[in-house]
Amino acid sequence: MSEPKSSSMDVDVATLRSPPKHVAIIMDGNGRWAKARGMPRAFGHKAGVDALRLAVEAARDLGLGHLSVYAFSTENWNRPQSEIDSLFDLLRMFVKRDLVQLHRDGVRIRIIGSREGLSEDLLELIDDAVRTTRDNTRLTLNIAFNYGGRGELVAAMREMGRMIVAGTLGPDEIDEAMISRMIWSADSPDPDLVIRTSGEVRLSNFLLWSGAYAELMFINQLWPDFTKESLEKAIDAFRRRDRRFGGLGA
Ligand code: FPP
Repeated sequence: MSEPKSSSMDVDVATLRSPPKHVAIIMDGNGRWAKARGMPRAFGHKAGVDALRLAVEAARDLGLGHLSVYAFSTENWNRPQSEIDSLFDLLRMFVKRDLVQLHRDGVRIRIIGSREGLSEDLLELIDDAVRTTRDNTRLTLNIAFNYGGRGELVAAMREMGRMIVAGTLGPDEIDEAMISRMIWSADSPDPDLVIRTSGEVRLSNFLLWSGAYAELMFINQLWPDFTKESLEKAIDAFRRRDRRFGGLGA
């Protein structure tokens, strides 16, 4: 992790920031993880789902209110059809097989992204999971699927354009708070921390609006190797960072 080495003894507890309320993760490196084992990329994605299960459990245990994960970007349509199919199958299986346990664990599932290009049966499946878990309060799990940050803004702008044409919205009523309410990820507060695994140092169109003030953390671990300890370390490093939101701080 690209954080200065420090032990928990180095910083006065009083100077630690509050833990993040919302952590977002770009789960990168499944392909390289599989390749290192001489296995097909789909094998890496499957291991990625196992890591996702652990991360959800860890987020819940650590008391995070919201966890967002980037599972399929709008740019991922450019991958070979077989890989796209395997990612769709994994989402289907995750939602089907894990729903009972997630519901029991108090996890509210949200899918953020475009519905365009998703089949009717998949839409029904995810709508059902969202409906079933909508009153859960322990952890909100946002699965970004068919998601792009620019697309999210385009969808919000189109909706506001329609409201203006219908006469229900005046242009001057559009402000930052309104845009935050119109985007797909509106049900969660802005992420305080965005983590990307695998050593890549990019946002790749993830949470461009809501992540404007997020702390960014790039860690070298490949996603299937991510554990509860990785999340704990990231949260610990976050708590040592100085967040000023453009001001001068305390
Ligand atoms: C990027 O790694 C990862 C993805 C494009 C998909 C992430 C998906 C999962 C972790 C599992 C799917 C989960 C659900 C719920 C559908 P990469 O494949 O680009 O890895 P590479 O950069 O090493 O090639």
